[in-house]
Amino acid sequence: MNTAKVAAAKAALSHIEEGSILGVGTGSTVNCFIDALAESGIRLSGAVASSVATAERLTAIGVDVLDLNTTGTLDLYVDGADESNPMLELIKGGGAALTREKIIAGASKRFVCIADDSKQVDVLGAFPVPVEVIPMARSFAARELLKLGCDPEYREGVITDNGNIILDCHGFHISDPKGLEQSANAIPGIVTVGLFALRPADELIVGYADGRTETHLPRA
Ligand code: 5RP
Repeated sequence: MNTAKVAAAKAALSHIEEGSILGVGTGSTVNCFIDALAESGIRLSGAVASSVATAERLTAIGVDVLDLNTTGTLDLYVDGADESNPMLELIKGGGAALTREKIIAGASKRFVCIADDSKQVDVLGAFPVPVEVIPMARSFAARELLKLGCDPEYREGVITDNGNIILDCHGFHISDPKGLEQSANAIPGIVTVGLFALRPADELIVGYADGRTETHLPRA
């Protein structure tokens, strides 16, 4: 058990309204959150899941998994991150669920990010930026991403829940996360770039190995 992830996950429970429909992300920290949700006894009207894996976990604890097309805007989305800067702009997609994660984040009034303290950085980019790409565009998208200043690497053996591939982009110097997100998203064949800067988190709950948590709001 990772105490830091569990601490952040448990702290997010206080944001949930009884009877609400919750957006739920993907990854090991979110798995801790789903476990904590099961233990909490909080009753939900349902949840929208950002991946098949999360949908299966939610179903296993008795939560109805709903189609975002039927729910309208969600009040709250809870998800992890691979990196967060002080503006709560994120790199996400280590678990290859970035496209559905970005959809749900965009469709939610509030995005609470849960993470262990290793995820906080001053400048994004040490973690390679995942990019979801339509398979036929793999080589072309990689050449275009190279021009944006990174070294794209094909993530072998991974097909996303949407049937696409992932390029992990190493070495980006991300001084303008919003600009890079827009430039990468404009490349034909790219479905989503794992930069969450145009829609950052609204709150970051950081967990520590000793069980403490800290809550951060975006730095102005
Ligand atoms: C999945 C993600 C995850 O939120 C991110 O990779 C963090 O994962 P973990 O909680 O396992 O550290 O973006 O696509």
